[in-house]
Amino acid sequence: MPKVKFIPQNREVEVEAGTTLLNAADAAGLYIEGDCAGKGTCGKCRVKMIKGGDEEPTAAEKKHLSKKELLGGWVLACQRKIEKDAIVEVPIQKDAHSRKITLAGGIEKLEAEPVIKKIHVKLDRPSVKDQTADLERLLSALGKEDLTVKPRELNTLPKMLREHKFSVTATISGNRIISFEPEDTSDQMYGIAFDIGTTTIVGSLLDLKTASVIAVSATTNPQNIYGADVISRITHANQGKEQLQQLQNKVIEAANDIIKDLLKKTKIARDRIYEIVAVGNTTMSHLFMGIDPTYLAPAPFVPVYSRALDVGATEIGLKINPAGRVTFLPNIAGYVGSDTLGVILATKMDQRSDNCAAIDIGTNGELVLKTRDTLMACSTAAGPAFEGAQIGQGMRAAAGAIEAVAYEDNDIKVTTIDDVPACGICGSGLIDAAAALLQAGLIEPSGRFVNFEENPEKVADHFKNRLRRGKTGIEFVLVPAAESDIKEDIVLTQNDVRELQLAKGAIHAGLMILIKEAGIQEKDLDQVLLAGAFGNYVSRESALAIGLLPQLPIDKIKAVGNAAGDGARVALASKSERDRAVKLPHQVKHMELSTRMDFQEFFIEAISFPKI
Ligand code: FES
Repeated sequence: MPKVKFIPQNREVEVEAGTTLLNAADAAGLYIEGDCAGKGTCGKCRVKMIKGGDEEPTAAEKKHLSKKELLGGWVLACQRKIEKDAIVEVPIQKDAHSRKITLAGGIEKLEAEPVIKKIHVKLDRPSVKDQTADLERLLSALGKEDLTVKPRELNTLPKMLREHKFSVTATISGNRIISFEPEDTSDQMYGIAFDIGTTTIVGSLLDLKTASVIAVSATTNPQNIYGADVISRITHANQGKEQLQQLQNKVIEAANDIIKDLLKKTKIARDRIYEIVAVGNTTMSHLFMGIDPTYLAPAPFVPVYSRALDVGATEIGLKINPAGRVTFLPNIAGYVGSDTLGVILATKMDQRSDNCAAIDIGTNGELVLKTRDTLMACSTAAGPAFEGAQIGQGMRAAAGAIEAVAYEDNDIKVTTIDDVPACGICGSGLIDAAAALLQAGLIEPSGRFVNFEENPEKVADHFKNRLRRGKTGIEFVLVPAAESDIKEDIVLTQNDVRELQLAKGAIHAGLMILIKEAGIQEKDLDQVLLAGAFGNYVSRESALAIGLLPQLPIDKIKAVGNAAGDGARVALASKSERDRAVKLPHQVKHMELSTRMDFQEFFIEAISFPKI
């Protein structure tokens, strides 16, 4: 079998001849970025073959790579099959997680009301005069005679008592003792809240006694190899049991990596983690639990379950205390998952009496509207533009991504994440770029670039060399090759603007449906909450300028950080909040947009940019 060595990571793997480089990298535990599940359409999985890559380029490679790149050994990892030993250089992936991590703990203080209890007791030693059995002796000391315990845990008790002078701590969940520990460990009680995103997975380690977040860790969702969006993942799962298992394995491995990292950072023992509470969209929830989500894809978009699922950690392979439990919070509908429920829980929207909307912008835009009379939610397919996908030079929000663009002093100025040379444009940069070019008069409200060939007088002289005709139509040079990290011009194309229009049109139209259904008007909104990492970094001014948000005074728009993740933390920290989460779906009216004839009308109206 051919051997493939990946550098600079220095990983080597043997694979069957005919395996793609993308799958070989996956087998070597490396993640290569790509958005199209290996279909060869996104052009993002570029790697450089140092040895063993002398085959003819495929059609997809010719389309996405320049002649110079092809000559230099660059290939698309999903297209290139391994036939002989190879050495492959994989560009180091820039860290796309830092933004989500910094958003952890958006709620300043969580209420501590742990589901788990730990009680330390020092028992009297048995004697000939007192032959009470170990368990009964313990239960009597705990003052909880009705607790149950499984034989596996019970078996650990007798020796532990005798080796530790009858000093033992019982960990109790509900009416069951889930573990015994020697001596007094009652102050060591931890849990992990997971936000299982389609793109990024974030885990927060909580001290359950104080409800404080003591460490946060994140990683890319490695299911990405099967596609960037939930439909690609469902399609993969639909192929059979093995594929479903692959998807579950990927997400569980990633969660275990996060657990390992959290333990390393905090030096906490693995068996002191007793609980996990997770949120995610409905597809992620199914895949995490190993449940086939096939029927979520076609209408009528029916999930297998919507209630909270509670399983033993070992049942799904999560490495915490072997008796630990995992709760995935309930979903609201097929495309409105427990992540949206988490937003409601964390922001306490359900308890408000004014008109408040929440928008969680991602590949799917999830929208919630609370008025005095109703609480409604819907999901709208915004497409991946806000995540930087399907944008010519789009990328995730990582170092080097253009994150802000401004029209200042008659110039278009860009700022990148970490202030390093630009290598692409992320969602917030895309919105800013469109807003800035609208302001500069280079994009018309219809979304078309000004036709500089027919109307040269419409373009100011200082932009004449930046607005040009590119491969796919008119484009604007945001950063020239000489200043970019990739030594190519970084441009905003007409197609990028169209993708943005479709995405923002879908979000705005979804919100309009909720507003109409609630019998209010846009101007009646008292507050709009922007949830998610994206919501925190997008410029509110630009979002208003392109018509992504309702035309409201800017002080009515508030970013609330990773509210979905906060929802998981709230439910992990407090039993009352977890109980509230379980009941919440019954209070939320789900609006299915695909059957609404008026969605298309709102969508068409919302595609154009507002006139300046
Ligand atoms: S082109 Fe390879 S993953 Fe998209």
